[in-house]
Amino acid sequence: MTTHTFDEQYWERHWTPGAASVMGTAPPHPYLAIELAGLPPGTALDAGCGAGAEAIWLAERGWQVTAADIAAAALSRAAERATAAGVDGRVDWVQADLSTWEPSAAFDLVLTNYAHPAIPQLAFYDRIAAWVAPGGTLLIVGHLDGHGHGHGHNGEEPPPEATVTAASITARLDPGVWEVVTAVETERTVARPDGSTKRLADVVVRARRRGTD
Ligand SMILES: C[S@@+](CC[C@H](N)C(=O)[O-])C[C@H]1O[C@@H](n2cnc3c(N)ncnc32)[C@H](O)[C@@H]1O
Repeated sequence: MTTHTFDEQYWERHWTPGAASVMGTAPPHPYLAIELAGLPPGTALDAGCGAGAEAIWLAERGWQVTAADIAAAALSRAAERATAAGVDGRVDWVQADLSTWEPSAAFDLVLTNYAHPAIPQLAFYDRIAAWVAPGGTLLIVGHLDGHGHGHGHNGEEPPPEATVTAASITARLDPGVWEVVTAVETERTVARPDGSTKRLADVVVRARRRGTD
């Protein structure tokens, strides 16, 4: 059982230098290249951007990115990485609690990778899906349910309340509004900084909001 809530305090601690050293240097998720390669760049929101790898990947490919996170420590690390990558002008870093924040305009692309706020996971996906413009794309990368429920990030396993299935996400996407393009459950191996490896079980859902056919 998780013994804490995924609130701002939790995530600030998570991203405090030292604790953040692992995720703070992680490369972008491989699903971006697979799922987004064919899309023309436009505006994008990275919801729960952490240390910014995915936002920077998008900016390098011409997207104008709003990268939002509840943790100032994560955004500060992310902004340093964006400067080093030379994409400062293409990313707006926004400190916001996405369970209450509202954007001023919809985005051509809304993506989220492993973000799990204090509100229920699927309710969070409902919120961010509403911010996709007609004809735009939603990309969700989450932790797969049923694979080593643990005690949160310190135990390395995602907590059960942060896990989902592809079907649980697509069930929330009204077929009259969304065309589901990808809905997969997959595993991959990632390297830890000490050279060892670990397996991750992921859910990847990509959907296109109808409206500009
Ligand atoms: C596990 S990290 C993933 C970071 C990054 N997207 C990645 O894939 O490496 C989850 C991120 O979601 C952010 N987050 C959690 N709750 C949030 C909320 N309510 N609003 C905005 N960001 C939130 C955390 O601060 C953290 O950076």
